[in-house]
Amino acid sequence: MRKTLLAMTGLAVLSLAVGTAVPGVAHADEVEVLHWWTSGGEAAALGVLKKDLEGKGITWLDMPVAGGGGTQAMTVLRARVSSGNPPTAVQMLGFDILDWAEQGVVADLNETATAGGWDAVVPAALQNFSKYDGKWIAAPVNVHSTNWIWANKAVLDQVGVAPPTDWDGLIAALDKIKAAGLVALAHGGQPWQDATIFDSVVLTTGGPDFYKKSMIELDPEALGSDTMKTVFDRMAQLRSYVDPNFPGRDWNLASAMVIKGEAGMQIMGDWAKGEFINAGKKPGTDFVCFRFPGTQGSVTFNSDQFVMFEVGEERRAAQVELANAIMSPDFQSAFNVVKGSVPARTDVSDAAFDDCGKKAMLDLKEAAASDQLMGSMAHGHSAPASVKNAMYDVITNHFNGGIASSEEAVTQLVAAVAAAQ
Ligand code: GAL
Repeated sequence: MRKTLLAMTGLAVLSLAVGTAVPGVAHADEVEVLHWWTSGGEAAALGVLKKDLEGKGITWLDMPVAGGGGTQAMTVLRARVSSGNPPTAVQMLGFDILDWAEQGVVADLNETATAGGWDAVVPAALQNFSKYDGKWIAAPVNVHSTNWIWANKAVLDQVGVAPPTDWDGLIAALDKIKAAGLVALAHGGQPWQDATIFDSVVLTTGGPDFYKKSMIELDPEALGSDTMKTVFDRMAQLRSYVDPNFPGRDWNLASAMVIKGEAGMQIMGDWAKGEFINAGKKPGTDFVCFRFPGTQGSVTFNSDQFVMFEVGEERRAAQVELANAIMSPDFQSAFNVVKGSVPARTDVSDAAFDDCGKKAMLDLKEAAASDQLMGSMAHGHSAPASVKNAMYDVITNHFNGGIASSEEAVTQLVAAVAAAQ
């Protein structure tokens, strides 16, 4: 992979050096943005950014690549960079940002970041990914977190359960929903969605220190421990609450099952809230948000950042405008209210946010203060893509019954992570 990327860099430089006019390239007052925000809620949030830029006289060239978690988007990006025609900006997560920075193909935002005082307002956990070699290379637009559950309020009331606060309570609630003839757990069988559940199951089963040891430090003992066996046992248990049509289902269709009351709950990051809001649903009335039982106090986060690529002088001014628009406090409030996430700046008021958003902002602050703010494995914030993908394979294979036991899953996890490093 490294070699391929380096070869691409060479091509990109060559193409810029000879001034080749590449068809489809953005003009001076245009920004071409590659992203995977294609669901209803995501598109509504993106609309806030497009409108903001239009107001500044900048035209948005949309480059959507469907697929939650961005796996497909990253494949398309490699092709674009290899043809010497990178987009102006690219939605990206965690370690992927650092991987691209290492290839020397991203732009330097330091001048505008210094003028805008970004250092003082962006939390350190995010700056770890927004900067490379001490230079700003990306503008963080939000902070999402994965340890959430989204439930249909009428369904919970019908079966007589309150939001559970521990694992046993969760299982009891799922049993009641299932007994009422509904789908207990709405889920889409795609590797990144299986991994999103895994984030929370690791955290509730082993606690924050175990999450750090296994998902961030990649400690072989933690990965191969009895606690990790219990994690896989629990994944298999959750699998029994999913309907037969789950393979391949997109996450937003799983959200729709909860919105319509066909299913009780969905374990998903807070982009799911964007779907509920987009469907006109109100938190506390139509749906309920609560932390995955047993993970209260901790946050497994992912932050969408827009990485700026080296695009040449004529497109630079619009690129910098885009970065500054993303970092504006007013924009961060307006955008994140719709997206379901919270601002990537610490100086934005929670006044415009609903109760789930207010809780997300408070949880984030408290988790950061108590050292329980941890990068999401599923969304590329705990380990580089090679390790993440190795974990995905084992988690998904096990979830789909392709690995006979939790013992075997743990053995494969240890081996896969070791081989990927
Ligand atoms: C995440 C991303 C979110 C959301 C989700 C589903 O990786 O950070 O913004 O879009 O994928 O597409």
